[in-house]
Amino acid sequence: MGYIRSKAMEETGYIVLDSYDQAKDPQEWLDIEYVDWKSSGVTRFAPITSAFGEMECNGFWNHTPPRTDKDGVWVQANLDKAPILAKRAQEPGANIGRCRVIELQPNEYSDSLYNLHQDDNNRLNPDGTGWIVRSFFNLTDDKDSIMILREDRFDPSTEIRIPLPAGTQLILDTQRFWHAVWHNGDKPRYCLITSWESGPELDAYIAKHNGKSHYDVKPLDPAFAAESEAKFLARVEARRAALAAKGIVEEGVKDPEA
Ligand SMILES: [Fe+2]
Repeated sequence: MGYIRSKAMEETGYIVLDSYDQAKDPQEWLDIEYVDWKSSGVTRFAPITSAFGEMECNGFWNHTPPRTDKDGVWVQANLDKAPILAKRAQEPGANIGRCRVIELQPNEYSDSLYNLHQDDNNRLNPDGTGWIVRSFFNLTDDKDSIMILREDRFDPSTEIRIPLPAGTQLILDTQRFWHAVWHNGDKPRYCLITSWESGPELDAYIAKHNGKSHYDVKPLDPAFAAESEAKFLARVEARRAALAAKGIVEEGVKDPEA
């Protein structure tokens, strides 16, 4: 049967929506509660939904009974403090799985390459239902920071780089893309990440906000890009060698958020 997918996302796997006027809203993300949860980079997360409404961030499939990334339950304490963020997550009317704010500390481009991973959003997702994609709403004004997407982890020519000023709204097929953020700043970056089920509601929302499936990527300085790629590959090799010394063969990169 196959999954229901969004036509708008079919070609490139990402959508850039019209920018949101973030400056008009209070900084709700500073009031909510964060829990230590390691993702790619130095991070904490504030759950606005979770598997059972508890203040925790584990993947829904790691609970009993295990289930896919849908039907998130509001975490009341954070919902009370972040009604506008919750409303933005609810605007499409699509099923919501995990909804959370990520706090990411500054890093280097080469770190973000090393952090590239694919999400595991559709684990246990029943065939014939909507494919789960994720929205990324940048809350802080991180003009010099970039969402890095690669179709192929080790092929820089597949890289798409989208800058992250406040109000940037992206929808990404994070199971298709290798992705991570290069947070080129000096304060933590905050971003609302919501898992949405694809379907007519999401399609209508993408159309309403003029979703575009192409972004005009600016080139990087070639010497900087080459140097960063080399650093990334050296770290991958160092990890492989360290694990091999312990007799462990790495089975590939796991979704760090799950
Ligand atoms: Fe991810």
